[in-house]
Amino acid sequence: MRSELVQVSLVKNKQVFIGWWYRKQDLVVRDQQGYLQNVVAKDNESLLDCLQHNALSIGSVCGGGGTCGQCIVRLDPSAAISVAERYRLSQDRLLSGYRLACQQNTDLKGNVQLVESPNPKTVSCELLSNTFITPFIKELRFKYQGSVPLDFKPGSFVQFTIKEGQSLAFPKDLPRRYQPYWPRFESATFSHPNTVRHYSVANRNDGSGVLTFNIKMQPAQSNNQRPGIGSFHLGNLSIGTVVDIVAPRGGFNLLDDLGVREIVLVGGGSGIAPLKALIDELIFGLHSTLPITLFYGAKHPVELANHCWLKAVETQHSNFSYQPIGSNASSVWYGQVGRVQTPLNAFVSAHRSLHRCLFFLCGPPAMMNDVTQLLLRYSVNENAIQIDSFSPFTTT
Ligand code: FES
Repeated sequence: MRSELVQVSLVKNKQVFIGWWYRKQDLVVRDQQGYLQNVVAKDNESLLDCLQHNALSIGSVCGGGGTCGQCIVRLDPSAAISVAERYRLSQDRLLSGYRLACQQNTDLKGNVQLVESPNPKTVSCELLSNTFITPFIKELRFKYQGSVPLDFKPGSFVQFTIKEGQSLAFPKDLPRRYQPYWPRFESATFSHPNTVRHYSVANRNDGSGVLTFNIKMQPAQSNNQRPGIGSFHLGNLSIGTVVDIVAPRGGFNLLDDLGVREIVLVGGGSGIAPLKALIDELIFGLHSTLPITLFYGAKHPVELANHCWLKAVETQHSNFSYQPIGSNASSVWYGQVGRVQTPLNAFVSAHRSLHRCLFFLCGPPAMMNDVTQLLLRYSVNENAIQIDSFSPFTTT
């Protein structure tokens, strides 16, 4: 918010006091359609809070933490630049005045321009395939049916709406080889209310309109509980079904200019989905030659989703290193055994240029917390750590 120095006079006890005072001025905001609005900021609030309390559309997935990169605005290029903004925005964008609203206060020069519309758009998609790729994770591939190309970043998530009704309480196409991993099914269907679920897109945007998801089916833990509503509803959809989704939003923020960075990915279970999209984008979309290392853990090696694809990428691209880890390994597993944190700890402790690394994490909340603490202990800058905010482990 801009302040203007004005002269004020005050009459008290028949005496006149004259002085100077700062008068608050409105902040002028140009919205995504080009309309100008005057808004008033409260004392000491961030620009993001100011825009939100004035009901202006501004994206925010991390709640103002400076990690999601969704709250981009354009300001006078002289606006201060925070550490978080240096990580999230390219040098070109910074020079052009792009900033994160959550990192700015309201004492600004010039207008505020809102640049991206966070208003969700609903689109229709047809299910192309629905296949088990581990005992519990299904790969669903949808084809977007709209005529205007979808625009999404690696790590974007999609919202599915599941209408109140009945869903099958068992997977209708469970392959024989995975049956020993599943509990016995006591009931045929279960009822559920209207609900929404979020799942990360597991592929890059290659312009084909195909959206791939890795959805973990969550069986009921006991006879009087119901299974995961989203995973059982979607996991039992038939090929050719058309669903409405809220178009991909959010996503990891890959710097426009990666320079001499190194990419380190840490995933667990179906948390591989957004990391796979990132690998797809870096290797096949950007043809990046930067070093990329993936630490990917699952309880049992058979639960490592996309294992063959990841092995093939590693074989064909010398800059990609894949470290699969099984916490309960069997006699036929020749890979690492234990927790992801162990090889990751060895990696960061031996690394001589950690300041160059960008870390992307997605997995169970406890694992993400452990990994984040581990990285911070090695003085990794918290702005170099991006965490998928929509853990598939909370969206059943
Ligand atoms: S709200 Fe500003 S980066 Fe997430």
